[in-house]
Amino acid sequence: MKNTSVTFKEMKKKGEKISMLTAYDYSTAKLVDESGINGILVGDSLGNVMLGYPDTVSVTMEDMIHHGAAVARGAKNALVVIDMPFMSYQASVYDAVVNAGRLMKEGRAGAIKLEGGEEIIPQVEAIVKASIPVMGHIGLTPQSINSMGGYKAQGRDIASAKKLIKDAKLLEEAGAFAVTLECVPAELAKYISDEISIPTIGIGAGAGTDGQILVYADMLAMFSDYRPKFVKNFANVGEAMREGFKAYDEEVKKGTYPAAEHTYAIDEAVFKEAIGK
Ligand code: KIV
Repeated sequence: MKNTSVTFKEMKKKGEKISMLTAYDYSTAKLVDESGINGILVGDSLGNVMLGYPDTVSVTMEDMIHHGAAVARGAKNALVVIDMPFMSYQASVYDAVVNAGRLMKEGRAGAIKLEGGEEIIPQVEAIVKASIPVMGHIGLTPQSINSMGGYKAQGRDIASAKKLIKDAKLLEEAGAFAVTLECVPAELAKYISDEISIPTIGIGAGAGTDGQILVYADMLAMFSDYRPKFVKNFANVGEAMREGFKAYDEEVKKGTYPAAEHTYAIDEAVFKEAIGK
């Protein structure tokens, strides 16, 4: 059954946990979708994982639409959420609505996600008014890396814990259907999850949130530039790929690949005629 923003809210009401993973291409989206995962985030983490940037700041609307549309083609049942990239919504409410609309029309998203709390509430309200489901994202917000001064857990002092609680409530009031909590202490994330009626999707936020999300390349040990504390390796796909690539390299160089069964035959008479013998 197709998951929608409404399904997510109903799952919270029923006390069912929500599973999400990122994906950035058609084939991976299909595999994630076939696994019964409820939602696929086309995260702007594609800047790191797919494009090799050191952060998400340089990711563009065109990048998000290109990868988002590929994922949407592969996802039959999962809700596809596409991230709004840095500076596609911060400057004005107008930008936010127009760019969210592009992610829906051109990227075929089922919802969009944007980072921030109180400071982007007017944008969230306007996007929701345009009938576009919005997922919030608070805690560690990687697009703000330059003002945050590094990738570190948030909400560990009184002021920042209070701000997170306030921001979650404001996002709910503004009409967001869910909120991502990234790198937030588990106790605080559980408290926020109990305080709001919309689902919280945690990443590095403990087991008390209503759902979980991970970057697929992290949980499959495919991405090796860095490894956050909260990542668990559910399979060693990176190593399996490396072994496969090495075996191919060896066989090509030894001449054992391709073998007869990987080769197309031609009728001998046809061949002789073609080469003039
Ligand atoms: O871009 C991304 O992958 C994300 C997740 C880390 C939640 O925003």
